[in-house]
Amino acid sequence: MNFKNILINQSENLATVIINRPKKLNALNKDTIQELFEAFKALEEDETVRVIILTGSGEKAFVAGADISEFANFSVEEGTTLAKKGQEILFDFIENLSKPVIAAVNGFALGGGLELAMSCHFRIASDNAKMGLPEVSLGVIPGYGGTQRLPQLVGKGKAMEMIMTAGMISAEDALNLGLVNHVTSQEELLPLADKIALKIMRNSSVAISAAIRAINAGFEDGVNGFDIEINEFGECFGTEDFKEGTSAFLNKRKPNF
Ligand code: COA
Repeated sequence: MNFKNILINQSENLATVIINRPKKLNALNKDTIQELFEAFKALEEDETVRVIILTGSGEKAFVAGADISEFANFSVEEGTTLAKKGQEILFDFIENLSKPVIAAVNGFALGGGLELAMSCHFRIASDNAKMGLPEVSLGVIPGYGGTQRLPQLVGKGKAMEMIMTAGMISAEDALNLGLVNHVTSQEELLPLADKIALKIMRNSSVAISAAIRAINAGFEDGVNGFDIEINEFGECFGTEDFKEGTSAFLNKRKPNF
């Protein structure tokens, strides 16, 4: 895969996707969004990949938002299309990916950057990270799912305050709010992401995909997450991984998924 705005490192069963526009603080322009979609699609299809880490290049930013210079002159129709297409091809796509995606937030995660991190399955952050949804300071609102995913993660009241004030919170505050799961130093961020990824990889990928579908179902309108869980649970009984996992346990050995 050859991209202009992103880098991909693959080793063993782990892929690390790095957004690489450090001079623009990794702001998400149209090309970067398209490249990220293509990369995630390819990694989803690559059977050797079991976990994906998403991070930003440089020491300053994960992603400082959607590229403001690209949409400053947009009409109502263009604005609507920007949000709709972006949500479809990237943000919803990542959220529903069958493989775990961990955001390693290495600096500013603002606007579309925080929305991107929130569409990942969970987040860890470096202690210099700053997070926020500053869109209302630009006369717009979050359009890549931020008004929905931030309340899901931190609760409605705190999300309202963060969006209305357009303020930034520290990594420590994000940890206290449950927006990120762990905070560490910048040097330790990717090693920690790798360590968590390795722990995930010991488990059944098939079962993990089923868990992602069941968990996400609970946040879908008109879908009963408990019913989806019952179906997914049942389906697991027909998989090779279930046979391997249970027989390994009963024979007191480690499973080989
Ligand atoms: N879109 C486009 N360009 C962006 C950007 C964005 N969201 N965020 C940063 N950049 C660019 C800057 O324009 C600047 O480019 P230049 O060197 O060609 O002028 C470069 O990245 C470096 O940013 P700069 O503002 O000089 O860095 P800073 O350390 O002074 O400030 C931020 C860092 C993150 C506080 C500041 O860049 C910022 O507020 N960015 C916008 C955040 C935002 O509102 N995001 C939501 C968008 S919907």
